[in-house]
Amino acid sequence: MRFFIKNYGCQMNSYDSRRMADILISAGHAHACSLLQANLIILNTCSIREKVDGKIFSDIGRLKLLKEKASGNFFIVVVGCMAQSRFSDIVRRTPYVDIILGPQNIHLIAEIVDDIIKNKVLDATISTSEDAESKFRQLPNKFSDRGVSEFLTIQEGCNNFCSYCVVPFTRGREFSRGVLDIVQEVKNLISLGVKEITLLGQNVNSYNGEGRGRRNYSFPDLLFELAHMDGLKRLRYTTSNPRDVDENLARAHKEIEILMPSLHLPVQSGADAILKKMNRKYTRNEYVRCVEMLREYRPDLAFSSDFIVGFPGETDADFQQTLELAESIGYAQAYSFKYSPRSGTPAAQMPNPVPEDIKSERLQILQNLLDDQQLKFNQNFIGQYLNVLFVKEGRHEKQLVGRSEYSQSVSSTAAAASVGDIVNVRITEVASHSLIGVIDQ
Ligand code: SAH
Ligand code: SF4
Ligand code: F3S
Repeated sequence: MRFFIKNYGCQMNSYDSRRMADILISAGHAHACSLLQANLIILNTCSIREKVDGKIFSDIGRLKLLKEKASGNFFIVVVGCMAQSRFSDIVRRTPYVDIILGPQNIHLIAEIVDDIIKNKVLDATISTSEDAESKFRQLPNKFSDRGVSEFLTIQEGCNNFCSYCVVPFTRGREFSRGVLDIVQEVKNLISLGVKEITLLGQNVNSYNGEGRGRRNYSFPDLLFELAHMDGLKRLRYTTSNPRDVDENLARAHKEIEILMPSLHLPVQSGADAILKKMNRKYTRNEYVRCVEMLREYRPDLAFSSDFIVGFPGETDADFQQTLELAESIGYAQAYSFKYSPRSGTPAAQMPNPVPEDIKSERLQILQNLLDDQQLKFNQNFIGQYLNVLFVKEGRHEKQLVGRSEYSQSVSSTAAAASVGDIVNVRITEVASHSLIGVIDQ
């Protein structure tokens, strides 16, 4: 079969899509360059907000026409978080979907495709177990193409149950992969030309995986283990939950040279009353102290964050506190979202929903503030040098695009450099979301 994977959602899905491609290639299937050239279409879905669900259902709907035209030997596969959380709706609303697999079952993709080709399974195959362990049991023997910067999932699932969030219901309970398994995969990635790895988990700071000897490793232990791997130039991670950050993590940022000085530390809200209702288990002051502690060890650490506005019961005063908190931290970058009720989560039942127009207004105000902060952060670098790993070619001739140590997107028309190089770039121009620079000869 010729397969095409369309990816939605977070980096964990990007990683899962890579793994599915590896597994399918190892089983003899081929990667199609576009959806129209494929006869095995895989949608790797997300369910984090209502809008995303709606878009995916309409995308599945469009595939029906392609399937009808193809008349046989054409399969539609829906995997990922929405496959898990809405599988009965998918079966009912889109009965022409051939296979449905939850995020912890993606490793079964080749076997199930094989079954369905041989007509062993006639109805939609549904597999949505929440056990993550078997997903990581074997590494494929062939690999699909990799870029110079790649993700690597070290932990699956989440035990935090923030009251608005669907993830604990889609990816199940927290599971940490063993250290040796991770080290082996890092080696594989390096041998495929990868220079920068971003370790992934919903809450990497609670990583607790089988280590060397009889000891379990904490997240900082894992970072120190990966600190000196031959060929690995840069290490990043996401996401951190502020409640589990400790001084060992701060020390890792001070001592590990390849650990990049940027940290995604989502705060969600600056008001204690809302943080409590969100079940985030930290207060505004604890968050601020956490940032201060990290900055003591690594003063140039660039912080990014996620915010939710319009959570049930959020007053003007609560929202004001969020603005003040953002102002006081000074983020290098941030994402902000309107609260979206997810069925089955406690917040969906909470009283005093915030009207849509107020949500939109608050989102606009917060986004303006965060854009300003990002622009100011970027402007600090005009005339200075930034270390940039070039990850791809740009749209213009000889243009390369990469990322600075602080995670900024930097482009340069660099005659002498190529993708995969880490180069000192002198910053000449700045916009809020990207920087432009030159390489001095
Ligand atoms: N594990 C990560 C977040 C994963 S989801 C963490 O704890 O930070 C990514 C972001 O989506 C969250 O940080 C949150 O800001 C947003 N989000 C999650 N559920 C949401 C919902 N129901 N409505 C709006 N935004 C949501
Ligand atoms: Fe969702 Fe909270 Fe877990 Fe993040 S920590 S995935 S927001 S439940
Ligand atoms: Fe979406 Fe699942 Fe990621 S809900 S954000 S794809 S963990």
